[in-house]
Amino acid sequence: MIVGQSIDRQDGRRKVLGQARYAAEASAEGMAHAILVQSTVAAGVIAGIDTGKARGMPGVMEILTPDNADKLNLKQGAQQTVTFPLLQGNDVLYSGQHIAVVVADTLQHAQAAAAKISVRYKTAEAVTTMDAVLSQAYEPKKFDNGRSRPDTKIGDPDAAMQGAAATVDATYITPIEHHNPMEPHATIAIWDGDRLTVRTATQGISGSQQTLATLFNIPKENVTIICPFVGGGFGCKGNTWPHVALTAMAARRVKRPVKLEVTRQQMFTSNGYRPRTVQKVRLAADGDGKLLAVRHDGLSQMSQPSIGEFAEAVGVASRMLYACPNISTSHRLVAVNQGLPTFMRAPGEASGNFALESAMDELATALSIDPVELRTRNYADADSTTGKPFASKGLRSCYRLGAEAFNWSRRTPAPGSMRDGRVLIGMGMATSTYPTNRMPASALVRVMANGDVLVQSGTQDLGTGTYTTMAQVAADILGVAVERVRVELGDSRFPPAPVSGGSMTSASVLPAVQQAALQVRDKLVALTGWNASDGVLLDNGVVRGPDRQMSFGEALSRGGVPSIEATADTKPAPNADEYARHAFGAQFAEVRIDADLRIIKVSRWVGAFDCGKVISAKTARNQLIGGIVFGIGMALMEETRVDPEYGRIVNANIAEYHVPVNADVPDIQTIVVEDPDTISTPLGLKGIGELPTVGVAAAIANAVWHATGVRVRELPIRLDKLLV
Ligand code: MOS
Repeated sequence: MIVGQSIDRQDGRRKVLGQARYAAEASAEGMAHAILVQSTVAAGVIAGIDTGKARGMPGVMEILTPDNADKLNLKQGAQQTVTFPLLQGNDVLYSGQHIAVVVADTLQHAQAAAAKISVRYKTAEAVTTMDAVLSQAYEPKKFDNGRSRPDTKIGDPDAAMQGAAATVDATYITPIEHHNPMEPHATIAIWDGDRLTVRTATQGISGSQQTLATLFNIPKENVTIICPFVGGGFGCKGNTWPHVALTAMAARRVKRPVKLEVTRQQMFTSNGYRPRTVQKVRLAADGDGKLLAVRHDGLSQMSQPSIGEFAEAVGVASRMLYACPNISTSHRLVAVNQGLPTFMRAPGEASGNFALESAMDELATALSIDPVELRTRNYADADSTTGKPFASKGLRSCYRLGAEAFNWSRRTPAPGSMRDGRVLIGMGMATSTYPTNRMPASALVRVMANGDVLVQSGTQDLGTGTYTTMAQVAADILGVAVERVRVELGDSRFPPAPVSGGSMTSASVLPAVQQAALQVRDKLVALTGWNASDGVLLDNGVVRGPDRQMSFGEALSRGGVPSIEATADTKPAPNADEYARHAFGAQFAEVRIDADLRIIKVSRWVGAFDCGKVISAKTARNQLIGGIVFGIGMALMEETRVDPEYGRIVNANIAEYHVPVNADVPDIQTIVVEDPDTISTPLGLKGIGELPTVGVAAAIANAVWHATGVRVRELPIRLDKLLV
């Protein structure tokens, strides 16, 4: 079996050699360059844009503004369409909003011309922080991708709080965070009549195709999206943001291919962010630590409602993570003058579990019960809110194996009780969970006479291993070495697949590869004249029959065909919704904190995860480590700061927006508990991408409390918050 093994990435060599071409690295004959011009005020109306001087600058071809931009079809398509700001009006709703696009023969000419544009604004009062308008919170219309309502309630949590042995009532805050993938957004658009070809950095070529077809009012088939490599996304490449359509608009106007790269600074207002949240969590338990009530009420920052809507679903995990008869959750939005928030690694769960799992730690302290013990006493065998049984759940093993590997039993409960000289040592833990998502997907598999195999799907590889896992699944079924399988993806002309978000690429695409490969295998066997029931085996490029063997080439020539192929369309099983489908994990963190200077260092990490069947041991571990590192950033560093006067992001660069570097990250031990979920996918996998980020911030906050006795309820946990 190649599935499950630790094999090298298919795309690794090309990336190391610089042969993997990202969106911005492509070129086209006669290509012009476009740059975005963004607003410098946070609210108001554009009273006038003077482009006269700029138009006279060398090399300038066109300047698009709300005065002359093409009118786009803003009807919402099937996919989520971000329609604002597309230069369709003069309103300014946030600082850093696109207000013009300059197109010139070179990038430098475009930049020089952009500097000569002068904009007059009629400014209005801007709401720059959500905290000023919390009382104006409103209910989201769209929530949790339509899977659930913003508010849920079982039992009567408030009544159940009365007479509890212990309660926690606390407010937790998470800041605005930006994705900051290594590869910035970039788009190249080429028109040929009413056919549009776009190379763009995206997590979802199908969505980009649909969005552009809708905006430009052309058939979907006329739009081709190409994106073979993505240099990270973390959610900000899940939507088709306005710069993509503006590039296409520019290319149509100047009748040439146009390239537009979003600068690192512009990325802070061009492609979403994780919104600030204010979460109130109330827990109550009896003397044995059994939960009597859970209340989780979340507020999250939104843009102005006319832009669209996004709600950070902070309470969804609180509905199902523990056994409890009385649970309520609510979600409200608070509109400010900032751009539209969006999905960012484990949206909802990552920020929500910081609150819930910090509160669980506070409850453990109040009850004098070990934090792991408290969680196992409240272990849920079914989703508490829906009552649905779990399709699979290996969380008990995660707690046990994680605690053993971490040496959790050496932890002494009192805060500040573990020291190494002048260094305070803290141990903390938290539970992780993330839903198992899956959407319809298609794939093509073709076998050639020489035994080579081609696999195609219109999916994406964000650097997470899609190329590799697709090859593994096909190789096993067709009995060829994984090196014989060529995988092609990132092209909308291939069979369609969903957005690579919500940790669902493997769960969606691999069943399609599996189905197509099984169909090709059957066709191949049929060509040999043997029956599959004859004990026929595909092995190393040959079909082994009952008494002799035949190479793939012989089988194909017997059938008189040069190759054989099949395309499979797959979708979730009809009974999947009868189950609660989730991946789980247990995070164990050790921090070392200088007793006087309060410098925080994460010194050890053990994460034990139940992500179902692992397809690729190496890329799975890569994802688990990556997710934990991201969580370390969330816990200790990441924060987008907004100037309250001007509503402008003041650290819109990666010098001042801090993310962990190698020196910030300890050796990370990952443990995988395989609890295959064959209800969600025939391969038993559950998806990994976002799970390992969830719980990291809480585990660190809990470890920081254990080291210092200081409970930090607002991220990030910088050392100044420990100087109390
Ligand atoms: Mo993920 S935040 O759904 O790309």
